Amino acid sequence: MNAPPRRSLVLVSRAPADGLGDVLLQHGWNVMIANSASQLRRQLARHRPTVGVFDFASGFSALEIATFRSSFIRREPGWVAVVGPGQTGSEALRHAIHSYFSRFVALPCETERIVEAVEREHSMAMLEDTPPPGDSMDGEIVGACDVMKELFRSIAKVAKSEASVLISGESGTGKELTANVIHKRSSRRNGPFVAINCGALSQQLAQSILFGYERGAFTGAWQRRLGLVEVAHGGTLFLDEIADLPLDSQAILLRFLQERKIQRLGGTEQIDVDVRVISAANVSLEEAVAEGRFRSDLYHRLCVLGIEQPPLRERGSDIALLAWHILDRYLPIDGRRQIRGFSSCAIRAMYEHPWPGNVRELINRIRRAIVMGEQRVITAADLELEDRVGELENTLVQARAAAEREAIEVALMRHGDRPHRAARELGISRATLYRLMANHGAR
Ligand SMILES: Nc1ncnc2c1ncn2[C@@H]1O[C@H](COP(=O)(O)OP(=O)(O)OP(=O)(O)O)[C@@H](O)[C@H]1O
Ligand SMILES: [Mg+2]
Repeated sequence: MNAPPRRSLVLVSRAPADGLGDVLLQHGWNVMIANSASQLRRQLARHRPTVGVFDFASGFSALEIATFRSSFIRREPGWVAVVGPGQTGSEALRHAIHSYFSRFVALPCETERIVEAVEREHSMAMLEDTPPPGDSMDGEIVGACDVMKELFRSIAKVAKSEASVLISGESGTGKELTANVIHKRSSRRNGPFVAINCGALSQQLAQSILFGYERGAFTGAWQRRLGLVEVAHGGTLFLDEIADLPLDSQAILLRFLQERKIQRLGGTEQIDVDVRVISAANVSLEEAVAEGRFRSDLYHRLCVLGIEQPPLRERGSDIALLAWHILDRYLPIDGRRQIRGFSSCAIRAMYEHPWPGNVRELINRIRRAIVMGEQRVITAADLELEDRVGELENTLVQARAAAEREAIEVALMRHGDRPHRAARELGISRATLYRLMANHGAR
């Protein structure tokens, strides 16, 4: 029988000699060991394993678990938790498992169960690695949170229709990306996708840019030029920043949408054009209609179907997902290959920031950090973000230390000269009690 192919996994454990690593090796896994957050980051960067096994039972404290967070939020590997008897009582551990782990195995159990969970996780990773058949554009919208899942569902429905779509959302949320994906998933995918910025389209420009002109139509028209609407024939016409289209140009566009015919400037022929229209606005078009800045008849033609592009600050852990995606994409371009990832303060600062410029702002900050940063990880300062949570956490650490000190003092007072009893009451070993007392200057 042939030996099974070697696959890579990282085992995070305080007691790597306890046999689990050996069992996994015997099942054809190439096992890397990490016993701290920094070792884990190194292993992930160097070997890119598909699966991570976190052996909580080998003795990690709740505070230590928090230091692994920047590795947990990476897209890879998929994580399997191995939890010791009674450990699920810990709030911090339950939270970590719920947030970052796909599978968990509670001890005691047959080691086969752990191997099985690892195999499943590996199969999932392999599935996710396979690009969706045919349409690679789909892969470019990164998102896994609920609001993005809803967006993906809307895109799938809208792509099947021929009706006009209006995509609304703040600047930099990915409206053009969404328009592009709708086109690529529609029956027009082999036709052109033509984007027009409507902001600067004065009446004079609108005629020639949208519909083109014949030779000699005006001074300087040396030869016939096709307009963008005609160029988009058979495909999708993307009208960007539609709310900024000047009123007189709105009338021109409306006429085209009603008749689906164009006439080149200086020409006489009426030409049939078959396009699907998708438009985008980063302000409320309804408001523009109410204020008389946008024609309501045009609005109703453009907005048969509506899509809301969610702002980045509402996308939860997608922020980190996107950050990694952007880092992977721009690291080879912007050239600092030795960057390993983000510091935990950078991740925290990204979750805190309100992102007025959304994904585009995230891209800009990360690209700047890649070029300007001087450390092996991107920090909050490299992103030019304040680490406000860091400050908060410092006060939390102080509060926790004060509470710890008080609990020790009370226990010692109660049990006088019997520190082993105080330790038992506190749920710690005598050695730990002595260490804590030393830390707090009580010894
Ligand atoms: N979910 C996403 N996954 C990956 N890349 C994204 C995502 N959303 C946006 N981007 C990227 O962010 C940048 C801005 O997106 P896009 O130009 O589509 O935004 P927009 O809403 O049209 O912005 P504006 O209103 O400023 O024109 C692009 O480089 C796009 O590829
Ligand atoms: Mg845009």
